[in-house]
Amino acid sequence: MKFFVDTADVAEIKDLAASGLLDGVTTNPSLIMKAGRPMLDVIKEICAVVPGPVSAEVTAVEHKKMLEEGRKLAKLARNVTVKVPLTPDGLKTCKVLTSEGTMVNVTLCFSAAQALLAAKAGASFVSPFVGRLDDIGQDGMYLIDEIMTIYRQYPHFKTEVLVASVRHTQHVVQAAKLGAHVATVPPNILRQLFKHVLTDNGLKAFLDDWAKTGQSIL
Ligand code: G3P
Repeated sequence: MKFFVDTADVAEIKDLAASGLLDGVTTNPSLIMKAGRPMLDVIKEICAVVPGPVSAEVTAVEHKKMLEEGRKLAKLARNVTVKVPLTPDGLKTCKVLTSEGTMVNVTLCFSAAQALLAAKAGASFVSPFVGRLDDIGQDGMYLIDEIMTIYRQYPHFKTEVLVASVRHTQHVVQAAKLGAHVATVPPNILRQLFKHVLTDNGLKAFLDDWAKTGQSIL
């Protein structure tokens, strides 16, 4: 399973990239707003730090303008993935950009039917938002299960399921159990994946005992 980080904070991305476990980055207009910096500069910087796919989202809602924005974003770096909303105009734009060799991430996916359309439009990624479904009392993970089941029936679909709107580490674990290709995870949750109290306690006990031996490996 690939791990993307869901942020436009370049300092955070640099820090997490140093772990060697980061496969890509996703941003959206809200994350750009939070970063408080010009979008095009931020995307270029992120693309230079992380060689994997970096999602940059269009903000037009009409096909022609969306395509223009997408083409401009795609020119920023070879690893830009243009993010378009799951609307008729978004999918039309997805088809064109894909045919031009640009990776496309179809975002704001909330149903299996929508995910089917994204695959038919040739998207590189589809982003189902699990947390936002949970927020309204639905089961985000059930949607991932449904999408994976459908995609498995059609091995020619190249679209990767990118689990988004991740709220906790269990979302990541459940997505992996279902075979989802990617999870995009906020930085704090990505760091939580490393943590276990027994790891911390066990390491402390080993180091305390080691100190008592008076030895040194180097
Ligand atoms: O980038 C899209 C998605 O991950 C947004 O998550 O937390 O705003 O629902 P959230």
